[in-house]
Amino acid sequence: MTHDVTVLGSLNLDVVVHLPRVPGVGETVLASGQQRVPGGKGLNQAVAAARAGARTVMLGAVGDDDAARVLRETAGSAGVDVSGVRREPGPSGTAWVMVQDGGDNAIVVDAAANGTVTSLTGCDLDAVRSAAVLVMQLETPLPAVTQAASAASRAGVRVVLNAAPARDLPEELLALVDVLVVNEHEARAFPDALAAGVGTVVVTLGADGARVVCADGEQAVPGVTADVVDTTGAGDTFTGYLAAALATGASLPDACGRAVVAGALAVEVLGATASIPTADAVERRLQR
Ligand code: RIB
Repeated sequence: MTHDVTVLGSLNLDVVVHLPRVPGVGETVLASGQQRVPGGKGLNQAVAAARAGARTVMLGAVGDDDAARVLRETAGSAGVDVSGVRREPGPSGTAWVMVQDGGDNAIVVDAAANGTVTSLTGCDLDAVRSAAVLVMQLETPLPAVTQAASAASRAGVRVVLNAAPARDLPEELLALVDVLVVNEHEARAFPDALAAGVGTVVVTLGADGARVVCADGEQAVPGVTADVVDTTGAGDTFTGYLAAALATGASLPDACGRAVVAGALAVEVLGATASIPTADAVERRLQR
């Protein structure tokens, strides 16, 4: 093992607009402002794992535009090894993030460069096999996700899949997943995950914490209170912190306890990567 966590996933420039409420179909709502910030579920989770203290490698792709430099620099300055992030001709991924009053959001993603990662190179697979934990989401093409899960599983690397955005997944992939992380909405898409071979399902519940579900039963992980500003990236913070803790050998309930606190701190700050707390901040909150 040369590092703790490998993240295969998306890197997006997030165009964040602030609205009184997310518009319905056919409706126009005026925004009170916008910001362009680094994001993408993969990048957010890699930064979270690194801020949690894990030696982290990221695999994915950016374009050849200005956003590409910002996205790579964001990961690099958090201590993530980005040598496996490819540069492809064309635009980087973009996400339009609508944040409504109260902090909840709705997101539209154009995968762009992320969509070119349809298979992994030999170097990518080495990075997968030499980690303790592999973390993925579903903004990367499924063939690459399945290829990585298969390589990790054969090498005894723990596979964590954050099934977001939710979509139908082949049983072949689910059978390779050790820990499936979903929010309450996404959980409805995977009613039979355990029967399909997933080891444990972790359901994130926002302010109510999380639920750890496996064949032996269920365990509740209590929530912590937070002053919600923006929920963007809170689930990614949870997943990155969870992976980092699992890489140190923590039990799933203990890893989830730390991840819940990290996710709660993330909702108190605007933006995706910008809101991810340091390990010290999480420790201070745990001591409170
Ligand atoms: O989970 C939040 C992320 O989803 C945003 O940063 C956006 O880029 C989308 O990928």
